[in-house]
Parts: sequence; C-alpha cells; structure tokens
Amino acid sequence: MKVSVKVPATVANLGPGFDCLGIALPLYNEVTVEETVMPGSGLEINIIEEDEDYDLLSIPKDENNIAYKAIELLYNFIGQTPSDIKITIKTGIPIARGMGSSASVIVGGLVAANELLGKPADDAILLAIASEVEGHPDNVAPAIFGGFCLSSLETDGSVSYSKIPWPKDWKLTVLIPDYELNTMISRSVLPENISIKDAAFNIRKCAMIVDSAYRNDFESMKKALKDKLHQPYREPLIKGFKEICELVENEEDIIGCTIAGAGPTILVISKNDGFEKVHNGIKEIFTSLNVTCDIRTLNVENEGTKVI
Ligand code: HSE
Repeated sequence: MKVSVKVPATVANLGPGFDCLGIALPLYNEVTVEETVMPGSGLEINIIEEDEDYDLLSIPKDENNIAYKAIELLYNFIGQTPSDIKITIKTGIPIARGMGSSASVIVGGLVAANELLGKPADDAILLAIASEVEGHPDNVAPAIFGGFCLSSLETDGSVSYSKIPWPKDWKLTVLIPDYELNTMISRSVLPENISIKDAAFNIRKCAMIVDSAYRNDFESMKKALKDKLHQPYREPLIKGFKEICELVENEEDIIGCTIAGAGPTILVISKNDGFEKVHNGIKEIFTSLNVTCDIRTLNVENEGTKVI
C-alpha cells in the first residue's frame, strides 16, 4: 500500500515574524510513502527532480533524511518502529532558497505515513512532530494547513497555530536566485542577544502585520513589514536585498520587501499588479550583481497538504 501527498512551498517570517509567521505558495513537492512488500528490504529513498536543475545531491538518502525522521517519530508515537519503507520525493520547490522545501518534505513524509497507518495522529500531533524535526513551526504550519499562519512553539513541545485571512489583492512575488543558502549558515550569523529596543520594535511590527491582514489595511501593512531581529544581520548574505528594498521603498503599490525565510529568495508584496512597475528595475539590479533570478508572482495557497 502507498500514499502520495502534495505539499505547498512556504515563505516564513514576513519580516518581523521570525520563527512564527509563514505563508503557503502554489509550488509543490510530492511525497509518496510506501510500506514495501518485501520484508527486510529496509529503507529506500528516491528523489525525482520535477522541473529544474536543483542540487539534489545534498539530500540524505538514509535514516538522516528529514522525511524519514518525521515518519520515525510518528511510528514511535504509536509505539512502533518503521522497518521496510520506501519514500519517493518529487521536487517542485527550489532547494535551500528559503521557500520551505525542507518543511514540505517533512510534512509530506509525515502526512503520507499517517494516512498509511490509518490516521493515528491528529493535526496537533502532526504539527508538533513536524516542528520538532524542522526546529521551528513557521514553515510547517502553512505547509500543512495552507494560507497565512501564525504559529507558536510552546515550552511543552506543543504548537499553537492560527490561520489569518490574507487579502486577495495582496500578491506575493518571489525572486528566486540561482544560488543556495543553507538555513544553518543563515541562522549562524544572528546575534545571541538583541537590545530591548529592537525587541520592542519587532513585537509591535509583528502585531501590526496580523492586525493589518485582518483589517485589509494596506498602509498599515506597509509600516509593519520591517524587522530588526534577523534581516539586518542576514543582509550581507542576500544579494540585491538592500538595493531592492531601496528601489521599492516609495512605490505606491508595493507593500514591502522581506527576506523569504532564511533566504536567499526575496519576497516582494504588492497590491494587484503593482509589482510590474518595479519588475525591470529589479531585473537590472540582479544583472548588475551577476545573479540569474526566477521571478514569480503568486497568490497565496489556501489548501495546504492534500492526499493525491
Ligand atoms: N524562521 C526561520 C529562519 C525560517 O528565519 O531561520 C527558515 O527555516
């Protein structure tokens, strides 16, 4: 028996919502989990590249694979250990670009295995296991549930989450560059401590994002998409981020510009087709930096993970 699921890409943080805000986008990984017929055949992991030349060599194909780790925790939750499992990952989400490809693989393995086992885990358990493997819940929550999610990893390991309405005319453009940035590296440049002033700045901006989305308040959202917790430290790693933020800063129909998750993709949020006014300027910035960039304007993905 086998189960396949389709899991969306996600962009985390949206500026100030470090490790707690994330939004799903309509690019997908497909994960198939199969209990193999031949007992004793062990673990088999296959990776199939869907449409681009991603570096798939870096994905472990043994017990260290993150989809397998999530499946193992699910089996442990029901008092079992996985033995003969085949996992197939078909990648349609760029790897190591800040588009939630690892969250998607974790969630895909977990949800497919949960279906195979007759759904022993509810949404809360799936979210807690996926967050444990990923280390934070901001990508895995929208990967499971779709939409714009606020999530919070609690001290007991449980995860609270809430889906926030995202205004239909707020479009998301991802600027996906041709180079990778490992999340561990991007987290390693963050300081151990920050000032109370910067913490207070982020608390109010993060609250403003949630409030602005609920009230569909474009002007308030423009002020909210600012961050002092991680973006200033990551900026040197993200080619073009500073220049693009400056370019879009005073554009009427641009809501804001943030690093997508840990980068290096950049997210530009605009009203309707407002992005078109800055499209050429952004292309020129990347050309001057010798970066090839895949630019995609997308709507929010509201469905989350689906069994296919
Ligand atoms: N919140 C995470 C970070 C997202 O910014 O490091 C990337 O996994």
